[in-house]
Amino acid sequence: MTNHLLLGQTLRFSGDPFVDGWEDVTHHSTRGGILIDSGRIVAVGEADDLRRTHPTAPVTDYGTALITAGFVDAHMHYPQTRIIASWGKQLIDWLNTYTFPEEMRLADPAYARATAERTLDLALAHGTTTLTSFCTIHPGSVDAFFEGAAARGMAVVAGKTCMDRNAPDGLRDTAQSAYDDSKALLNKWHGVGRATYAITPRFSPTSTPDQLTALGALWAERPDVLMQTHLSEQLPEIDWVRGLFPQARDYLDTYEAFGLLGPRGLYGHAIHLTDREKARLAEVHASVIHCPTSNTFIGSGLFDLAGLAARMRVGLATDTGGGSSFSMLRTMAAAYEIGQLRGTAIHPAQLMWLATEGSARALHMTGQIGHLGTGAVADITVLDLGSTPAIKQRTDRATSLWDALFPTIMMGDDRAVRAVWVAGRPVTQRVA
Ligand code: GUN
Ligand code: ZN
Repeated sequence: MTNHLLLGQTLRFSGDPFVDGWEDVTHHSTRGGILIDSGRIVAVGEADDLRRTHPTAPVTDYGTALITAGFVDAHMHYPQTRIIASWGKQLIDWLNTYTFPEEMRLADPAYARATAERTLDLALAHGTTTLTSFCTIHPGSVDAFFEGAAARGMAVVAGKTCMDRNAPDGLRDTAQSAYDDSKALLNKWHGVGRATYAITPRFSPTSTPDQLTALGALWAERPDVLMQTHLSEQLPEIDWVRGLFPQARDYLDTYEAFGLLGPRGLYGHAIHLTDREKARLAEVHASVIHCPTSNTFIGSGLFDLAGLAARMRVGLATDTGGGSSFSMLRTMAAAYEIGQLRGTAIHPAQLMWLATEGSARALHMTGQIGHLGTGAVADITVLDLGSTPAIKQRTDRATSLWDALFPTIMMGDDRAVRAVWVAGRPVTQRVA
């Protein structure tokens, strides 16, 4: 028998709470359940009803814990796991001081494998069931990540990071090798098991026009794959881009001009956008990815979540190791804090939607992951809403789900993650 009944509080969404009222699209049960069969969710309902209709299904009862879709991290860098929380630099200095030296170490396939496995296990421990990762320029770093994810049954997105200028010796490819390696990796991994490939120019300062042209050509050959990069993260970076691409209308144009703007494009950060850039991103149905802990940690700026989420696909992401936490709870908290600094209180329903359904939609995986509904793969996270004394004393006096959940969003971490299921199986790995 492959079916299994999970009981507890349940939270699911039937629409976008940034567009429709959150009250209309959120569905909460204080005593609900989901039925898993052959790795997928086949029924969602009230606990008593599901027990009656499936009397022989094995049951795991999580009591008052909250069953939600597993978190979907829409932008991160697994090679930077070991340099997370490195002190004192803003973007360009941070890349040169900490990031590039560390990424060079992933030339060693054993180091890449160990880093990938550590990252995947950290993600699961924090309730994140899908990662969307930049790798390094080394093809072996892509194999290491996809192999580690496959061993854990996880749906992941990843690609070889391409850079042919403004990076140190040993961390540069060429226009041709970036095209050839990306094509070979894409053919090897895209659609294999739960793997999705993303063509990955790091950002326009580290790619020549020749390399951007080559990767744009590859995307035109394979428009079914994703493309991920960075966009308008920090003001000195934007000045740098302006100097490198004097013909470009703006930062987005350095991708658009080379065939790297499209509906399956994922643009990380997107903080300092011009009106033209916003209009173009919306027009082509591209996704922007909000990385709030990174934006405060690296000192980048305040993303316009409320404004952009009403107009285009937005995903939520840790951006580790520029981001300062592996936790999507902490990431939601940072999104809330940035919202407050911009004068908008983002509702907990919107934060939870963004970390699950919103990110899944940004990755073009709506209904497959990040969704507590029939037909989705059973990637599930169960949250203990009283995981520390400080959270519990606050939750104990809560009078609604949102009042009970918000303290965990703001103060929770991996201790709040009671259980994780990936493709219908409980996760047993623990980070060493
Ligand atoms: N821009 C280009 N590369 C990176 C990176 O690794 N992290 C962040 N946060 N921004 C980038
Ligand atoms: Zn990034």
